[in-house]
Amino acid sequence: MKIAVFSNKPYTERTFQSANESYGHQLCFFEERLNHHTADLAAGCEAVCVFVNDELGEPTLKRLSNLGVQLIALRCAGFNNVDLYAAERLGLSVVRVPAYSPYAVAEHTLGLILALNRQIHRAHGRIREANFSLEGLLGFDLHGTPAGIIGTGKIGAIVARILHGFGCPLYAYDTRANPECEALGVQYVSLDDLYRQSCIITLHCPLTPQTHHLIDAAAIEKMQDGVMLINTSRGALVDTKAAIDGLKSGRIGYLGLDVYEEEADLFYEDLSNKIIQDDIFARLMMFPNVIVTGHQGFFTQNALLAIADTTLANVVAFEKGVCQNTVLCRHVISSNHSVVKGLVS
Ligand code: NAI
Repeated sequence: MKIAVFSNKPYTERTFQSANESYGHQLCFFEERLNHHTADLAAGCEAVCVFVNDELGEPTLKRLSNLGVQLIALRCAGFNNVDLYAAERLGLSVVRVPAYSPYAVAEHTLGLILALNRQIHRAHGRIREANFSLEGLLGFDLHGTPAGIIGTGKIGAIVARILHGFGCPLYAYDTRANPECEALGVQYVSLDDLYRQSCIITLHCPLTPQTHHLIDAAAIEKMQDGVMLINTSRGALVDTKAAIDGLKSGRIGYLGLDVYEEEADLFYEDLSNKIIQDDIFARLMMFPNVIVTGHQGFFTQNALLAIADTTLANVVAFEKGVCQNTVLCRHVISSNHSVVKGLVS
């Protein structure tokens, strides 16, 4: 199949070219992000391959459909950037990579927790300037520190296992309990109880209309003073302005973000010679107790290879009329119209 690969980076192209040796698709790489202005680049292609910050709202999907595109192949797990209702109306199928390396994101989450607690980012800067003072770098033992996990699917369950290894008492909130976590001794509680009991809160649920700004001013108000908040899931789970207020008041003592609600205008580009126009992001950068990474939780060799392989296999499955790793599939839609509603509600 001829596939237009949007938001291409050198590492994407290398990995996809290598994986494609076993599949033989025709790959056309474009650095541009997909949106309704750039959709025409997919002319002549039957599939588009897209990433987290490509915009697949109705106008983009209409253009793609008019060009004869039949398949949206997401090379990521989340699908919050696709208007699934519009895709269904237009008869477009949508596939994704539900699991590539949940360890990659879980381990990055722990990286943020450890770095924030022991202030490794600040210690590194100090030592390079021959400042060997420990003042201001005091941390706490993770052992015995209660942690709350929101979303205990593939990634959240691994985070639970790792934190269990550190000796943290664990609380969780999910719409359905994970027996693997229950077996570890994780206690499922209400969101309010999780906020009240946890010194560390880490987010691993998807972004949906229900979870948009899950962490807002009211939620932060219920948390412990000096709580550590970690988001490696999707930026808009956190109301960033409310998080800034929480940092200013001290309610939030540490903030670790791998994702940011307005990241599409920033992440994955070298903007070091540009003036950052996003004042909210600029304010975040002023706090010594904030670490932001640029949506790199997934970025390990193992995960990249698995993403490329699964994406290309998804396209083959679609060509054969088999639905695999499907968010939305023409073959499923024709027999079960509730598929979209079920996924996004
Ligand atoms: P998953 O589907 O295995 O687990 C998600 C869990 O969230 C499920 O247990 C589900 O029941 C739960 N959930 C759904 N709605 C909820 C709600 N309203 N409140 C609480 N829990 C809810 O997904 P997985 O693979 O663990 O990924 C989690 C998220 O991580 C993805 O949605 C994606 O946004 C993010 N992600 C981030 C990456 C990065 O590079 N930073 C890479 C991959 C995923």
